[in-house]
Amino acid sequence: MPTSAIPTTRLPSGATIPTFGLGTWRMGEDARRRKDEVAALRHGIERGVTLIDTAEMYGDGEAESIVAEAVGPRRKDVFIVSKVLPNNAGRRGVIAACERSLKRLKTDRIDLYLLHWRGSVPLEETIEAFEALAEQEKIGAWGVSNFDISDMGELWKMPNGNGVATNQVLYNLTRRGIEFDLMPWCRQRAIPVMAYSPIEQGRLLGHAALREVAARHNATPAQIALAWLMRHDDVIVIPKASTIAHVDEDLGALDLLLTADDFAALDHAFPPPKKPMPLDML
Ligand SMILES: NC(=O)c1ccc[n+]([C@@H]2O[C@H](COP(=O)([O-])OP(=O)(O)OC[C@H]3O[C@@H](n4cnc5c(N)ncnc54)[C@H](OP(=O)(O)O)[C@@H]3O)[C@@H](O)[C@H]2O)c1
Repeated sequence: MPTSAIPTTRLPSGATIPTFGLGTWRMGEDARRRKDEVAALRHGIERGVTLIDTAEMYGDGEAESIVAEAVGPRRKDVFIVSKVLPNNAGRRGVIAACERSLKRLKTDRIDLYLLHWRGSVPLEETIEAFEALAEQEKIGAWGVSNFDISDMGELWKMPNGNGVATNQVLYNLTRRGIEFDLMPWCRQRAIPVMAYSPIEQGRLLGHAALREVAARHNATPAQIALAWLMRHDDVIVIPKASTIAHVDEDLGALDLLLTADDFAALDHAFPPPKKPMPLDML
């Protein structure tokens, strides 16, 4: 099955990052599924996926060790994103959490390290720790997740806050709020957005309009939902797939070219925001 090469976009530092990767939430939660989860990620890598998103939270660290097993000797080919929990986001907590993640990931560097969501620790402390980790080359870049536009504004004004490389947020056809203000805000600053839960964890796949567009392309609803997100060349999608069939299907989105009619039908069924909306989170 031919798959188009995976496009890349640029982080503000100039480093490149693929715009399609695989997520790992819910991996590592059931030992009986581990073999299949490793196999799915490994299959993705064999098919050219070079971005994997994980977090210390997923499977209480087990997802990171699944990533390590799947990546194996291909480490230098894969861009790894991981996240620190807000509880660990203090000056010393971030460093310790990163060391633990590095150990589980069996690597000496996390390519992009994110604050999973904003907690009660002052952001200045987290940024300081991120900067120290970058200085020591234990992380390649840092960013945030689940930050609404007001959080981004605050972050931006802090010392080194403009070093933020990405904001990973909930974005899919049924969650378009960010198009109103957060996405333009990021775009103005050349900060790519990472779209998590791009197929709304499967819940949007039965939607009639999506099925109709899919039928026109001889494609599946998941592929259309992913291709729709990838219409932006600065949006990074990270679907999670724990079967080889789903990995292959999701990769098929890269071969699709949606038409103006498709976009109009999808806009009609899933209207874009007309006013500011609070950021949704899962
Ligand atoms: N920063 C954050 O707060 C945050 C929050 C949520 C997610 N994330 C990241 O984003 C990633 C993706 O989000 P997500 O896992 O929440 O949701 P998602 O990618 O929208 O959906 C994943 C679900 O869809 C299924 N699936 C995948 N491909 C499919 C296909 N072609 N057809 C039908 N079903 C398909 C998967 O099943 P199988 O597993 O059985 O293949 C899984 O149940 C996460 O894994 C995580 O890395 C980050």
